[in-house]
Amino acid sequence: MEFNFDEIIDRRGTSAYKYDALFKVFGRDDITPLWVADMEFRSPQCITNALQGVLEQGVYGYSSEPAELFDSIHDWILAEHGWDVKKEWYTYVGGIVRGIAYAVQFFTNPGDKIIVQSPVYHPFTLVPEGNGRTVLRNPLRGRDMDFENLERLLAEDGVKMMILCNPHNPGGYAWSRETLQRLAALCAERNVIVISDEIHCDLYLWGGKHIPFATVSDEAARCSITFGAPSKTFNIPGLASSYCLIPNAILREPFYRWLGANEFNDPGIMSSIGAIAAFRHGRPWRDAAVSYIEQNILYIERKCAGFTDEQGRELIVPVRPEASYLVWLDCRRLLARLAGKRVEELRLEDQNLLVDYFVNKLRLGLNSGVMFGREGLGYMRLNVACPRKLLDFEFTL
Ligand SMILES: Cc1ncc(COP(=O)(O)O)c(C=O)c1O
Repeated sequence: MEFNFDEIIDRRGTSAYKYDALFKVFGRDDITPLWVADMEFRSPQCITNALQGVLEQGVYGYSSEPAELFDSIHDWILAEHGWDVKKEWYTYVGGIVRGIAYAVQFFTNPGDKIIVQSPVYHPFTLVPEGNGRTVLRNPLRGRDMDFENLERLLAEDGVKMMILCNPHNPGGYAWSRETLQRLAALCAERNVIVISDEIHCDLYLWGGKHIPFATVSDEAARCSITFGAPSKTFNIPGLASSYCLIPNAILREPFYRWLGANEFNDPGIMSSIGAIAAFRHGRPWRDAAVSYIEQNILYIERKCAGFTDEQGRELIVPVRPEASYLVWLDCRRLLARLAGKRVEELRLEDQNLLVDYFVNKLRLGLNSGVMFGREGLGYMRLNVACPRKLLDFEFTL
């Protein structure tokens, strides 16, 4: 194999959050960390080579943004998603959560309402709430959006924004064009801005294709703010390299002026150089990583298929992701058993039994489902972007 995804890399003692925070979060650190969404793979060599050039010069002065940064992003998005993004739509941002926070602060006021579709990546709730905004939850119905409830929420006074996860985390759901069009029509009609977080868009599995939200209709182009990044795709979140795309000048121009005035959109030299190398030369690595991740998902599915109750029903049912490397494990049957209850009787406080099972019985650190909203009760999120050996555990009662 050209790339060695089986290599075990010792990240302990390297300020890797996934390892450093183990004790604080799980109460012990002798467990395999399969939580924080970065990969246990070495990033593509082309990126390291490019960064090495900067290190060798050894001068870390102020940098300007290379024109090549936008060009590399443009060419990547065009080749991958068929979207011909314009230079003026673009700005750099130093992270997507940060980008969402800027947008929340710029476009909404304390007390305004922001819709999210739970269970969802927790900063979608934490950022607005941390800034005094009110979060309205539109819980997903399995793999679908609940449009009836969404219409009801959109009709409330003070709704200014919706934060869309495209594709969705957790669950790895890819949204259909029709779903995105319907969403755009409803939000644009009420002048609600849609933040589309597309950080996982370059990790589609099983030959699937990503649909950028802004491309699905004129309404979507008008109401959307899209965030993307090479960070998940090439395992470089530590380089803080992300981008924002806003086709609508009425939204874009004042926002970008504000970002500029505050110097919120100046990349550091490593951010630019790393992102350019990734988008220009990282495709073969990405393709190979996706294949390896697919095999890991199948491996987990086989493990779950063998972990059944007396009636032969799976105690853990993995939701097969359409994108990215986070497997949403439906452990409700297992939790009901641990709690001595029926599935319908499970309560939020029962989730501790599930976390305890994974941490203390299996010695694994996964994200607890309820961290993504109460709809995550009975679920755990498993990160499979790791050498298969790390998944070499057995589910047992
Ligand atoms: C949907 C989503 N958005 C944003 C992020 C984090 O992005 P950043 O590190 O650029 O803030 C993650 C990381 O897991 C994510 O899953």
